[in-house]
Amino acid sequence: MNLWTLLSDIPPDALLEAVRPFGEPFGYPEERDGAIIHDLRPAAGLEATQSSLGRAAFLPHTDAAFLPPHLRPQKLALYGLNNEARAATLLYALDDVLRLLTPEVVEMLEQPQFEQVPPLTFQAKLGSAPLPGHRVLTRDAGGVPRVAYSSQGTRPGSAPEALGAFETALQATKPTRVIIEPGQLLIFDNLRCLHGREQIVGPRHLQRVYLR
Ligand SMILES: [Fe+2]
Repeated sequence: MNLWTLLSDIPPDALLEAVRPFGEPFGYPEERDGAIIHDLRPAAGLEATQSSLGRAAFLPHTDAAFLPPHLRPQKLALYGLNNEARAATLLYALDDVLRLLTPEVVEMLEQPQFEQVPPLTFQAKLGSAPLPGHRVLTRDAGGVPRVAYSSQGTRPGSAPEALGAFETALQATKPTRVIIEPGQLLIFDNLRCLHGREQIVGPRHLQRVYLR
């Protein structure tokens, strides 16, 4: 798989079957009671939040950024049930962001000097206190960089300049826009790209599955 792929004509009851070639579906007991399929649609009272339950534009992030790399979803699957709102999912390749950064900033982003707040959907079980020792960038065994960041959850810790440079580079990176239509399944790498969402005006209902 490249960084992302889009499949069409998937019936709703075939979602888990369709994602299996890309990884093993799983959930976290601390989020949505361990559900494997997550409904993503605006929830009453949470419209303004930066979350899968909001309507506001959702700035670039990776899912479960607060967890160590081996516990994060390696891939995310988003399935369209209804997107009358025609709100696009935005995908940012990490390599495009890194191209805009100096080696010095990249090295600082690899240090455990940031803080990360768990996302809203985990906060009922884990609280909202920032967790120290966060690294925005890590590398896999082959030296390939991976990212863990969210616009509201990543705090600068002792390296505000490095985080500021990363955010400036992210803002300068042009995303790929994907409007997920009913029956379409978007699968993308949660470690090698960031994703966001346009503001939702009107009905929209997606489902999400984490893969490892
Ligand atoms: Fe997300």
